[in-house]
Amino acid sequence: MDLQLDGKRALVTGSTSGIGRAAATALAGEGAVVAVHGRDRKRAEETAAAIAGSGGKAVVALGDLARDDGREAVVSGVESELGGIDILVNNVGGSTRDGWPVAEPADWGAMLNLNVVSAVHLIGAFAPGMRARQWGRIIQVGSAAGANPPPSMAGYGAAKAALANLTVSLAKDLAGSGVTANIVSPGPTLTEGWREFALSFARSQGMGEDFEAARAALMSGPLANPSGRLAEPGEVAALIALVASPLAASINGANLRIDGGFTPTVN
Ligand SMILES: NC(=O)c1ccc[n+]([C@@H]2O[C@H](COP(=O)([O-])OP(=O)(O)OC[C@H]3O[C@@H](n4cnc5c(N)ncnc54)[C@H](OP(=O)(O)O)[C@@H]3O)[C@@H](O)[C@H]2O)c1
Repeated sequence: MDLQLDGKRALVTGSTSGIGRAAATALAGEGAVVAVHGRDRKRAEETAAAIAGSGGKAVVALGDLARDDGREAVVSGVESELGGIDILVNNVGGSTRDGWPVAEPADWGAMLNLNVVSAVHLIGAFAPGMRARQWGRIIQVGSAAGANPPPSMAGYGAAKAALANLTVSLAKDLAGSGVTANIVSPGPTLTEGWREFALSFARSQGMGEDFEAARAALMSGPLANPSGRLAEPGEVAALIALVASPLAASINGANLRIDGGFTPTVN
């Protein structure tokens, strides 16, 4: 299938590892010119070089999306390298200290800032250009925790729920513009971020540094899903590439779950 992404310009935030790197690689593989983003220049340049080595086109944009000056740096870097974008993938996100017994209000604020406010900032910067050109794709990376929040991920789940909610209002605001807004919500996915999460679970349960034991305990316990597996980053990336395609013009305001069936509801 030709996803018709040849020549489209894309920014994937947090694309030096994990789901973001896989999404940047997938979009570039379909012909898009991709801005690889992270805080670490070496990792970003290495990712861009890997994409170029596979015949794709990539530039680098650096900046800490938890900070206003970092957000401004990303916007100006992308504008100067690509002169605007057609596809924005708001992938950066994650949790800090979380869970009802331990998270302070400041921790909740930090999670909302990283997961939600950073995305709002980039939407504000790039949506007007997409609207003016009458075509665009805005894709948030949410989480199954947005609809099915474990108590240990209270702040993170609430932030991802906000991201899903704002995606729907954004799709309505962009009505008739040729720009769609969607959220792709993965369940557990085997990335560096998930590996760290599993290791911290292992330590908290007296398993030391035994990643495989933590993985088995999580996937047969609190994170069990009917598919019985972790997703691979490339699987999430394939869904992001499809939603980014002109073929997905009627997918709009949708929360697309890719969680092995973890979220036990009809919608
Ligand atoms: N992995 C899962 O199981 C899973 C499940 C559901 C949802 N998700 C969501 O999927 C997204 C990606 O997760 P992942 O597991 O792929 O993450 P990851 O492997 O930890 O990668 C994180 C990426 O984000 C960048 N990054 C982190 N903090 C940043 C900041 N403050 N400013 C700029 N860049 C930053 C990192 O680059 P640098 O280090 O170079 O800055 C890196 O490129 C997140 O939104 C996460 O919530 C993941």
